[in-house]
Amino acid sequence: AAALTLPLERVVHAKGVSRLAASKLPKPYTVPFAVPPVLAPIGTTDQGEPLYEIRQRAASVEILPGLKTTIFGYNGLTPGPTIKAQRGRPIAVRMINDLPPTHPQWRYTPWTSCHLHGSASKPQYDGYASDITQPGEVKTYRYPNIQDARTLWYHDHGVHHTAENAYMGLAAQYHLTDAVEAALPIPKGDYDVPLILVDKMFGADGNLMYDDAGHSGLWGDVILVNGRPWPVMTVAKRKYRFRILNASLSRGFRLQLSDAVPMTVIGTDGGLMPAPQQTVQLRIGMAERYEVVIDFARYKKGDKIELRNLGVPNSTDYDNTGKVMRFEVTDDPFDPAGNEVPAVLNPNMEVMGLLPAQAKATTKIEVVRKNGLWTINGTTWEDVIESGYKKVVANPELDEIQIWEIKNSSGGWFHPVHIHLVDFQILDRNGKPPFAFEKGPKDVAYVGENETVRAIMKFTHQTGRYMIHCHNLPHEDHDMMTQFRVGDDTPDNDPIASDRPTK
Ligand code: C2O
Ligand code: CU
Repeated sequence: AAALTLPLERVVHAKGVSRLAASKLPKPYTVPFAVPPVLAPIGTTDQGEPLYEIRQRAASVEILPGLKTTIFGYNGLTPGPTIKAQRGRPIAVRMINDLPPTHPQWRYTPWTSCHLHGSASKPQYDGYASDITQPGEVKTYRYPNIQDARTLWYHDHGVHHTAENAYMGLAAQYHLTDAVEAALPIPKGDYDVPLILVDKMFGADGNLMYDDAGHSGLWGDVILVNGRPWPVMTVAKRKYRFRILNASLSRGFRLQLSDAVPMTVIGTDGGLMPAPQQTVQLRIGMAERYEVVIDFARYKKGDKIELRNLGVPNSTDYDNTGKVMRFEVTDDPFDPAGNEVPAVLNPNMEVMGLLPAQAKATTKIEVVRKNGLWTINGTTWEDVIESGYKKVVANPELDEIQIWEIKNSSGGWFHPVHIHLVDFQILDRNGKPPFAFEKGPKDVAYVGENETVRAIMKFTHQTGRYMIHCHNLPHEDHDMMTQFRVGDDTPDNDPIASDRPTK
């Protein structure tokens, strides 16, 4: 591949670089909506599993009309291609780090670690932050697909540079299906649409800028949906299912349709809810996924409906428009199949049936700013590294049920706290019931300012060490991350030593 001159130092420092003038940005709702391509396997593994190959590489792409932007993309795309998998059918993904290596101008080497967020993968395939693949190296990840149908996403998790790598574009969706979901008459195929939301900041030459405001967060003024700035999507007069993922580094969204008609939430991070829930406003923190059905049957041809962002605290700055995307209704013919939302979706999600009385222990997690650092229980990932990766906040047995009490004592910040490996059920927020839209299996909890969220979970599927961290990625990198261990360490579940990348 031809060497690209990467202005990576600007990915670290925005100072002294001028921002792209607002007049150079496209008018909202002029760029057509698009969906990321679906990835095809390149063959099968020795075990007969579908084998995929992804090259992490730099590419120069047109995001803003008439300007070129250098990105890091899975196969050179951002968002990357969608992987579609079936429950009970494991797959392998050969992940090649073909990113340009260190250069004196750049402030970091783009080492990577790929995390499939929402998967109960073994520790050595979970994108453990310190399990890095250097430029020029390859690692084959094995995904078991043993859980319920859900919207997952894969994104970079390289230690201390997760934020930059993800911001440069290393993020994509992964859809897992199963028999329960397949049997439901909900929108499928062309009517099952990913919506990957991110915010970006552009320099005058079209390249990305990165100013994380002293490790507190990055807020861009341009909202991209599936890589397109404020796109416009034409829709038929029927129901659509949107798999909404907030892949921003620091921006939370509070989404609402311009006519304030309720949206029907059918799925959360860990898959289908027991029953659909209506909401006018949908709050979505970083890394959360919500599957939402919007019915365009009530509109007439030519109607324009906006998806707007009303904002959340700490995230309203820098986004002066509140615009996200627009739907334009056509009277085009459509396939009438899968145009329903049944009253019962998946009543058998084990995590939704867990009862507090079954919990064997309560683990207390406090997210707090200490000595200028973002910490969990006063400690950071550096402390985990210094302990030789031994330090843990909890050590449940396999299949143990616990309640985690996550307390935000950091003043005026919200933190989306992600627990790897498990799905959980939110029991309460400051003693009050969870929002209707989060009454489904979750793996990220939005923990608001001065809030305590209690969640119940079962440490099932795997043993070994897994991370827990804030998904405001500048917080995670500096260094609001720690780990827990299920059962014991074994030679077969070491997240760093068990399956090293190769040249
Ligand atoms: Cu989405 Cu530990 O990450
Ligand atoms: Cu945080």
